[in-house]
Amino acid sequence: MARIIAGVGSSHVPAIGAALDNGKTEEPYWKRVFSGFEKSKQWMAQAKPDVAIVVYNDHASAFSVEMIPTFALGCAAEFPPADEGWGPRPVPVVKGHPALAAHIAQSVILDEFDLTIVNKMEVDHGLTVPMNLLFGQPKDAWPCPVIPLAVNVVMYPPPTGHRCYMLGKALRKAVESYPEDLNVVIFGTGGLSHQISGPRAGLINSKWDKSFLDNLTRDPKKLTRIPHIEYMREAGAEGIEMVMWLIMRGALDDKVDEVYRFYTVPASNTAVGHIILENRRKAAGKSRPAGRGKTTSKSKAAGRSRQAAARKAAHRIASKGTR
Ligand SMILES: [Fe+2]
Repeated sequence: MARIIAGVGSSHVPAIGAALDNGKTEEPYWKRVFSGFEKSKQWMAQAKPDVAIVVYNDHASAFSVEMIPTFALGCAAEFPPADEGWGPRPVPVVKGHPALAAHIAQSVILDEFDLTIVNKMEVDHGLTVPMNLLFGQPKDAWPCPVIPLAVNVVMYPPPTGHRCYMLGKALRKAVESYPEDLNVVIFGTGGLSHQISGPRAGLINSKWDKSFLDNLTRDPKKLTRIPHIEYMREAGAEGIEMVMWLIMRGALDDKVDEVYRFYTVPASNTAVGHIILENRRKAAGKSRPAGRGKTTSKSKAAGRSRQAAARKAAHRIASKGTR
């Protein structure tokens, strides 16, 4: 069985990508930002996920304003870096996991979340910057396949925080019903507080950001009740990106271990936030997660009953097919 072992929240500030690509990581301004992700890279190197699901938003790179899906799942075999006006970033092509992505699409859509299935897509800084921050700068290939999940936070109305949180739960159910033994890490990206235009351009609200991070760990359900207008007012127009972190959080246990947090301002004109949350039932290597999957006589009986129902259903379909 596949399982989600941890969630990573990370800003995806485009200027971070530019600093990486132009060799500015040692400059004092940027060193302050990148030094906060050194431990994260060590954590990721140890976690060694088999697959990453990266929740991010497209910034009019793959989807123009002519067509903006609310939730778009990348089911392709690969996702090239997008040209965002300065040529594609010099990062490896992101390899997908079409089999798991197709499984997630089926499970989540049949769970009544109407995802858009995307079989061809380029990915922009929203996805590649957090990948760099957690996986470093590999030359030829990223260390694991990635399933991109693009969320509309660029045109009103974006999904609610509650909808995002519930989608996270549906994603988890989908992952856990995939038969292959895979450890999955899910990313929620974007934010934190920032506003890039208008009279309030440059807005950063550290107090609100830190409270968001506190509640993300301890009381995420409280965050699901925050209306869009509060994100706009307190965290700036682009602060609405933070709803995407709730997809990541919804995919985790109710109670999680916060193993790392980093916050610094500013980077470009944005507050940079980062958190790593581990499921307590995380897997030890590829073995069965503690406390999960123990076979009791009750669960054996339920399993037999499900198998019998599945056999009957298969027989009914086969009979119909011969008419
Ligand atoms: Fe963004």
